[in-house]
Amino acid sequence: MEQKTQEEDQIVTPWEVAAEKGGKIDYDKLIDKFGCQRLDQSLIDRVARLTGRPPHVFLRRGVFFAHRDFSDVLDAYERGEKFYLYTGRGPSSEALHLGHLVPFMFTKYLQDAFKVPLVIQLTDDEKCMWKNLTVEESQRLARENAKDIIACGFDVSRTFIFSDFDYVGGSFYKNMVRIAKCVTYNKAAPSFPSSFPHLFSGKDSLRCLIPCAIDQDPYFRMTRDVAPRLGYHKPALIESSFFPALQGETGKMSASDPNSAIYVTDSAKDIKNKVNRYAFSGGQDSIENHRKYGANLEVDIPVKYLGFFLDDDAELEHIRTEYGAGRMLTGEVKKRLIEVLTELVERHRRARAAVTDESYACMMGSRHAPL
Ligand code: TRP
Repeated sequence: MEQKTQEEDQIVTPWEVAAEKGGKIDYDKLIDKFGCQRLDQSLIDRVARLTGRPPHVFLRRGVFFAHRDFSDVLDAYERGEKFYLYTGRGPSSEALHLGHLVPFMFTKYLQDAFKVPLVIQLTDDEKCMWKNLTVEESQRLARENAKDIIACGFDVSRTFIFSDFDYVGGSFYKNMVRIAKCVTYNKAAPSFPSSFPHLFSGKDSLRCLIPCAIDQDPYFRMTRDVAPRLGYHKPALIESSFFPALQGETGKMSASDPNSAIYVTDSAKDIKNKVNRYAFSGGQDSIENHRKYGANLEVDIPVKYLGFFLDDDAELEHIRTEYGAGRMLTGEVKKRLIEVLTELVERHRRARAAVTDESYACMMGSRHAPL
């Protein structure tokens, strides 16, 4: 979609994420370039007010930082109109890493807070074609990934998960063809309620909100362009920054390097080892210098990761202050991170093991109850 030119300092597309010369992604520039809006404090306060619960840690800490028309969705919600959530995953690997969990954890919060229906697309067809997997292997990965997604705790009575291979046909396929006459890709159809007649029959004006990482923005910009031509609301978006690799914040994590990420299948020992060995530290090279200058929190991965997963604002602030002033050492911060991540992964593993055939069948494909 976009060519890298000499002036182009960073690239963010659904296919490629590259920061300027190994530096950091400049998210302010991205908002300007994409033309989306910043998710400001007043909007976050409004979410808290409308839902009657404190804003999710990913809102408080600016992980989800941009949006398109989210305020319109809230206006409509305030008038008593519900909306539905749509998100998805391309099942290219068997195990998910923490970065993959971020949009699903956030979507689970949105579903609980607003009590709205949710559709989750697994683009197994796309991965089959582009990753050179067999049809059977892509479907197997979709089923395995679905269990990890269900383990995030979605409301069984309000969630529909589908794989493209299983579900595409009927009304969904008709919408795909209508869309394909305007643009060519298959992730747009779930943005329109008529793709799911068994869920949303007679609700063609239902709005759709898509939580995703900001690299998906170009796709949904196209979807938003075609929406009025097909007589639908433009889907709204709520967009996150990227979860950084253990080695440092230069883009998304690389699926090809298992040591760049913590996976939900990692053991407590793996987590400890990966954090201690690979998590990029902003601490100084000697204890004397560290005590003198303090840690550089801007580049420190343990602090970044705690920003995602340590819910306690006061504790996080304490760590930032003490570590930044050199009174706390990298080892202590890493120790706390290891505890937090081990607990998260353990909890996920228990939840995944507890996914029953019944809840799986209910959310995946075979359900027909309206949402
Ligand atoms: N294309 C995405 C991926 O490869 C998966 C996806 C499908 C998605 N529909 C979506 C992601 C909607 C976010 C929102 O990972």
